[in-house]
Amino acid sequence: MSTARFEGRFAGKVLVVTGAAQGIGRAVAIRAAEEGGQVLFVDRADFVAEVATAAGENAAAFKADLETYEGAAAAMRFAAEQFGGIDILINNVGGAIRMRPYAEFEPQQIDAEIRRSLMPTLYCCHTVLPHFFARGGGTIVNVSSNATRGIHRVPYSAAKGGVNAITQSLAMELAERNIRVVATAPGGTEAPPRRIPRNTEGDSEAEKAWMTDVVSQVKQSSFMKRYGTIEEQAAPILFLASDEASYITGSVLPVAGGDLG
Ligand SMILES: NC(=O)c1ccc[n+]([C@@H]2O[C@H](COP(=O)([O-])OP(=O)(O)OC[C@H]3O[C@@H](n4cnc5c(N)ncnc54)[C@H](O)[C@@H]3O)[C@@H](O)[C@H]2O)c1
Repeated sequence: MSTARFEGRFAGKVLVVTGAAQGIGRAVAIRAAEEGGQVLFVDRADFVAEVATAAGENAAAFKADLETYEGAAAAMRFAAEQFGGIDILINNVGGAIRMRPYAEFEPQQIDAEIRRSLMPTLYCCHTVLPHFFARGGGTIVNVSSNATRGIHRVPYSAAKGGVNAITQSLAMELAERNIRVVATAPGGTEAPPRRIPRNTEGDSEAEKAWMTDVVSQVKQSSFMKRYGTIEEQAAPILFLASDEASYITGSVLPVAGGDLG
């Protein structure tokens, strides 16, 4: 798949990318730095520091748990202090922790999915605003999911439906303040083995079988009958983040081989 770079596309811009230690967030943050942006890699994993160091001198790392409001506020403060302001926020933290039919979820597991896949976006969208107002504008790209319509991860679906609602409503509220709010809705994405698993307790045999059902449903729902690549997710996120998308706001772009979610 294409890995074309657009030289200088983010020159003069400060980006905050959440969940930047691995996966889609890492690819987005590295590419934004390669394209001239000053990029803060935010993650709760310790190894975010080594990932940012490898990305070069216009990258920095900040360790924070974005499931807390204080973590989100501290990350935004650090970016503004380090780079003099914030232009672009990419809310990428999230991901289904467990795959199981809804009837099989335990109450605390439902809460954990909402904490992981809705609250960081809600908190980061709020804590970035004073920095955007100081700058006279800004852009938020939320990484949602096509799993707003999918099996075996209903709490995650609900969280990502919430992310879509934030995108539309905040865009409506803030357009007159020169702030765009957009999202992509990725489909199933192939990735190397995760350094940090979604579910640190490991998956049971039943969960592995339910995961197989999910993979089958996701492939069948895609016109292309395949998973995407990390690069195929990073490219539209960065397009929406860039000035090329200056007349796009409030939109959720499906990036799922034809599955509209
Ligand atoms: N991979 C897919 O197939 C897929 C499909 C649709 C949507 N998405 C969405 O794309 C985004 C990225 O997915 P991925 O598969 O690359 O993720 P991943 O699970 O591989 O990586 C997530 C990163 O976020 C960090 N993180 C998790 N919780 C955090 C917290 N509370 N505070 C700070 N950092 C935290 C992790 O340490 C990790 O580095 C997610 O929002 C996910 O829902 C992914």
